[in-house]
Amino acid sequence: MSAVRSRIQPMLTEAQLQARIQELGAQIAADYVGKDLIAVGLLNGVYPFFADLTRAMPIELDVSFMQVASYHGGTHSTGEVKIIKDLDKAIQGRHCLVVEDIVDTGTTLHKVRNLLLDREPASLKVVTLLDKPSRRKTEVLVDYVGFTIEDKFVVGYGLDFDGKFRNLPFVGVYQP
Ligand code: IMP
Ligand code: MG
Repeated sequence: MSAVRSRIQPMLTEAQLQARIQELGAQIAADYVGKDLIAVGLLNGVYPFFADLTRAMPIELDVSFMQVASYHGGTHSTGEVKIIKDLDKAIQGRHCLVVEDIVDTGTTLHKVRNLLLDREPASLKVVTLLDKPSRRKTEVLVDYVGFTIEDKFVVGYGLDFDGKFRNLPFVGVYQP
C-alpha cells in the first residue's frame, strides 16, 4: 500500500475533515431540532462521512441507506440511475437529509432527488462532503457543502479508485 499511497497527494487532512464535519454537524442539527429526521446515506462512498457526520449531530435521527449506479454518456445522454439497494423504510411525511460523498456532474444526485421527492417527504435537503462545481452538467440543489474543490480526481475517506482507497482517513489527489 505504501508505494501506491505515495501516488496520492494529500488535499484534506484527517484533522481538516474532522474539524469541518463537527461544524457541519452542529449547523445541520440546529436546523432539524424537534423534527422527524431520516438521514439517507448513498453507498458505498458515504460510509465514513455518514458515520462521522451523524455522530456530530446531537439530535434524534433515523438512518437508512441506498445504493445507486449511474450510467453517463453512451446512449443515455441525460444519464440514468439504477437502484441497486433501496431504502428499508418509508420517507413519506418525514424530513429527509440525503448524505453524499461528492457531487461531480450532478447527474446522480439529480436523479436521486427526483426519485425521493416522488415518495413525498416533508422536506428534502442534501449534504455533500465534497463539491466539484466546475464539473456540473445538471443543475442540482445542494444545501450543505463540506468543501468545494477543484476538478481533480480524489480518493480516500470513502472515495475510491477502482474500489480501493476508501479506507484512507484523509482525502488526496490520485495520480495513476
Ligand atoms: P455525478 O453523477 O457525476 O455527480 O457522480 C457522482 C459520483 O461519481 C460520486 O458519488 C462518486 O462515486 C463518483 N466520483 C465523482 N468524482 C469523483 C472523484 O474525484 N473521486 C472518486 N469518485 C468520484
Ligand atoms: Mg458516491
